[in-house]
Amino acid sequence: MRETEVVPDAIFDHPRVAAVYDPLDPDRTDLDEYARIIVDELGARTLLDVGCGTGTFGVLLAGRGIAVVGVDPARASVAVARGKPGADAVTWIVGTAEDLPALQVDAATMTANVAQVFLDDDDWAATLVAISHALRPGGTLIFEARRPEVRAWEGWTKEASGQVVSVPGVGDVEDWVQVTSVDGEFVTFDSPTIFHADGERIESTSTLRFRSRAAIEDSIVHAGLELVEVRDLAYAPGRSWLYLARRPGAAPA
Ligand SMILES: C[S@@+](CC[C@H](N)C(=O)[O-])C[C@H]1O[C@@H](n2cnc3c(N)ncnc32)[C@H](O)[C@@H]1O
Repeated sequence: MRETEVVPDAIFDHPRVAAVYDPLDPDRTDLDEYARIIVDELGARTLLDVGCGTGTFGVLLAGRGIAVVGVDPARASVAVARGKPGADAVTWIVGTAEDLPALQVDAATMTANVAQVFLDDDDWAATLVAISHALRPGGTLIFEARRPEVRAWEGWTKEASGQVVSVPGVGDVEDWVQVTSVDGEFVTFDSPTIFHADGERIESTSTLRFRSRAAIEDSIVHAGLELVEVRDLAYAPGRSWLYLARRPGAAPA
């Protein structure tokens, strides 16, 4: 059981910022590969999406007839998810994988580098064990993580990442990411959001952990899962790995 409460970053949990998460990052072709694996390769009928955020993936798969549970500790992001067309078909839970009721899903996902938010090894291990318990025997976990050797954070500067997006009904919204420290595997960055309509500037600071592939493979095995495959991530070739792991055992008849 987790000893400290999860406090999500403002970028996910401030209501005004969560409301513009999707328009500020509208290209979600990253989700295509997950959908293809879940629907075409696995033929899954049930899905758990851990760190579901604003629910784009959950709503997408619910629209394809899959029974989806989405869980995320950021209440404001889950509120955005609940407001989307088709969201009623999804079960949304504010919390972490450790807070889930008993489940036996065919597949579980952590899209968009959710795996990197777990800074503490015990939290990461507990999350993998909780996901394993939520999978049915033979069920598959799929998640991505950036390859540390690529040093993606070197491009996370205000100059390279800054944008101003015109959001209907909101006005111009500006944001950027700026790395403030790199301490071994831990990369910390600021990502302010500025609403030009009234000048409000909402600060957010995040830290991500860039674990090695070997460390992630070890953590999968230690959680009692079988490592099935590690693929080059289609939307970030050469930059991220896609991990597929399976709960041991045969699928129920
Ligand atoms: C980069 S966002 C990705 C959101 C979503 N998966 C997507 O594809 O848009 C990372 C998400 O991880 C969530 N998160 C942070 N800590 C978490 C935890 N302990 N368990 C599950 N999700 C967590 C954040 O609240 C945020 O919604």
